[in-house]
Amino acid sequence: MADRKLSLGLFMPNCSNMPSISTANVVPDQWTFEHNRQLALVAESAGFDYLFPVSRWRGFGGETNFLGTSLETITWATAILQATERINVFSTVHVPLFHPFVVAKMGATLAHISGNRWGLNIVSGWSQREFGMMGIELEEHQKRYGRTAAFIEILQSLWCSNKQPFNHSSEWYQISEGEASPVPDIAPVIANAGSSSDGRDLTARLCDWAFVSTPSIAAVGEVVSDIQRRAASHGRSVKTAIFPFVVMGTSQQAAEAALSDIIASKDDVATKNWLHDLTAGSGSFDTFTENMLASSGGGVHVMGTPEVIASQLETAFLAGVDAVMLTFPRYLEGLVAFNESVLPLLREKGVI
Ligand SMILES: Cc1cc2nc3c(=O)[nH]c(=O)nc-3n(C[C@H](O)[C@H](O)[C@H](O)COP(=O)(O)O)c2cc1C
Repeated sequence: MADRKLSLGLFMPNCSNMPSISTANVVPDQWTFEHNRQLALVAESAGFDYLFPVSRWRGFGGETNFLGTSLETITWATAILQATERINVFSTVHVPLFHPFVVAKMGATLAHISGNRWGLNIVSGWSQREFGMMGIELEEHQKRYGRTAAFIEILQSLWCSNKQPFNHSSEWYQISEGEASPVPDIAPVIANAGSSSDGRDLTARLCDWAFVSTPSIAAVGEVVSDIQRRAASHGRSVKTAIFPFVVMGTSQQAAEAALSDIIASKDDVATKNWLHDLTAGSGSFDTFTENMLASSGGGVHVMGTPEVIASQLETAFLAGVDAVMLTFPRYLEGLVAFNESVLPLLREKGVI
């Protein structure tokens, strides 16, 4: 498609230590609202389309207590939407912590406040450390996604007057003659970042956006095709986004050295806690996986000179990716440098 363009987003540091599980490059006040607001304004004026937060209720321990200080994402989004004029802003909710009526009402309110600039990332939950703290037991994986599907179906009914009143009966929710007003003028977009087969199936069937994790840019095409195949089996298509960790340098060696510094100072305890929770303690991990997680929180590495970074993002775009939610070792510096040196190259290439 000639008019297809890559959308730009920022995966925001509303949590402490974003995005590296490392003592390198820590910006102590990075998670604060004032810093987030500043980043939002810089991103908006550079033409970015999306801001995307992380929802976290407990840190991962270790020296950094990675993500241990965080701003809640619905209240965060409300204020960011008020501070901006054009950019779209997501919130992230954990299904077991909210009733869908509450989220539907907050979402309809945010849609009306913001002129339909709000979207929702839905997380099924994965950290027993986090949920255990609240006395909540994580359900078995497939059941978790079953509940998420019920949650989304209820949201979609509450955001569409033609579907109301409605009844719903599942293991998790009983809705009788459900209704809500106002509905949003346009239903807010729903994203999911599940990487398992259960997660991809849910996204393909019910969501608008799939957030895709891959170990490399070369592997992106295969994951995007898989998600699109699953969506096509439901007569749908979904938008796909990756979350690159952008490490820019004046040379490839300089960028690689910056990445090595981050990995050399990784917080082993917090990294292992994360991996343990994500895989329900399934065992040990290879160094590549540990280092990738520690450096970027799992985001794909895009590293090198501005030319190399632009060309890697172009490759992802040509492989079918619709959006990138960028992270940087030090957000403000990284974003400003990216805007100055990579955006013009992406424009020249016709990618944005
Ligand atoms: C881009 C991205 C953003 C995510 N945001 C959150 C988040 O804010 N909070 C959270 O608990 N999990 C978050 N996750 C985790 C996913 O929602 C999902 O639970 C995890 O990738 C495990 O997926 P699976 O159960 O399908 O394997 C995120 C994952 C990705 C890739």
